[in-house]
Amino acid sequence: MSVLFTPLKIGTLELSNRMIRTASHEGLSDQRGRPSDEQFQFYKGFVEGGIGLVITGYAGIMQSGKSALFHMTMIDSDELIPFHRKLTDRIHQLGGKIILQIAHCGRQTWSSETGMPLLAPSAIPCGFYCEMPREMNEDDIYSVIENYGKAALRAKQAGYDGVQIHGAHGYLLSTFLSLHSNKRKDRWGGSFENRFRIIGETLKTVKKYVGKDYPVLIKLNTYENAIKGTTPEECLLAAKMVEDTNCCDAVELSCGTNEGGFVMARGGFPTEALLRYTRPYCKYNQAIKFVFKKMIIPFIKLKQPPFTEGYNLSAAAMIKQSISLPVITVGGMRSKMFMEDAINMKKTDFVSLARPLILEPDLPNKFKNRLSEAALCDNCNDCVAACDTRTIQCYKIN
Ligand SMILES: Cc1cc2nc3c(=O)[nH]c(=O)nc-3n(C[C@H](O)[C@H](O)[C@H](O)COP(=O)(O)O)c2cc1C
Repeated sequence: MSVLFTPLKIGTLELSNRMIRTASHEGLSDQRGRPSDEQFQFYKGFVEGGIGLVITGYAGIMQSGKSALFHMTMIDSDELIPFHRKLTDRIHQLGGKIILQIAHCGRQTWSSETGMPLLAPSAIPCGFYCEMPREMNEDDIYSVIENYGKAALRAKQAGYDGVQIHGAHGYLLSTFLSLHSNKRKDRWGGSFENRFRIIGETLKTVKKYVGKDYPVLIKLNTYENAIKGTTPEECLLAAKMVEDTNCCDAVELSCGTNEGGFVMARGGFPTEALLRYTRPYCKYNQAIKFVFKKMIIPFIKLKQPPFTEGYNLSAAAMIKQSISLPVITVGGMRSKMFMEDAINMKKTDFVSLARPLILEPDLPNKFKNRLSEAALCDNCNDCVAACDTRTIQCYKIN
């Protein structure tokens, strides 16, 4: 029997296999961020396709952290609990497990979406959204920490099997950890301990709200593609500090930020899809689009690390050796043999996938029934470019 289909626990949550659908923004909630029937149908595909766990796309913990991407799911008010409950009940009826990813987007959004100034550790704009954020004061920081706790409690009340704190990809918590975006001189900046403080406090507060037996996960960046950006060694330090809080049940390892380009989701550079679907590019006139295609994109492409299978695995393997929490590795997991080897060689405990499952939600069952040896996804990244203004989909089949 393939090791991929052996059970393992994350805290109190027993998963039937090692394949996880990682968080991927769906754009399937309504204007207020309530999960929709289409969202349930989308997750149902993964559950029926044999996945061990669904982690939802990121859900906003408060209005100031709302995403600029199309129709983000929200968990910022008790009024939303019944709508989430309807979703989790239906997933559980199918025998599925589902965890809500909770996030504050920090400087990776626009104030036109949040209705208020962007928040960040320092007043430095993200190179993609290009909007100057306000440097957070202590009240702002404690308000975010507290809202993470409240959002996690709502997730528990709504029937989710756990929460995942988004500490990666250039969103608020990861900007505190990174020297690239955190220039503070107070107890929230400077030394690594100080830069980690908001993550540690968030984990402790979340567990205080949900209780020690409720599964709490965190997603961290191993690499950022930025000057002074997070390194694998710093991520190792962060993972150890996460473990030391005794308030976390698993760590998922990823990489990249919005301004770093296609690092988080490596592969093709989706020029046409960017110009068609991604703000602000799609608003350009033809002349600017031409300059963008011929001059700017080739320059950006030079900075992009290439796609290699399981591109976060070497960092994850190093981290797994030093912590005893379960490790989930995301990024470029494509062939069954590669995933089995990664687990058998104790480089990771779980593998998680985003793009391949958009095209083939039943990939786990295909692997299990020997109908496939590798995902069909060719990493074109059109799905990433389009999620700014469209619901999630694979452009190979639509
Ligand atoms: C359309 C799309 C939306 C994404 N949204 C999220 C998200 O909401 N939260 C998150 O942590 N990562 C998000 N990601 C990143 C994925 O979780 C994952 O780290 C990345 O795609 C690499 O994995 P893959 O090679 O299996 O696609 C998204 C990726 C895609 C393709």
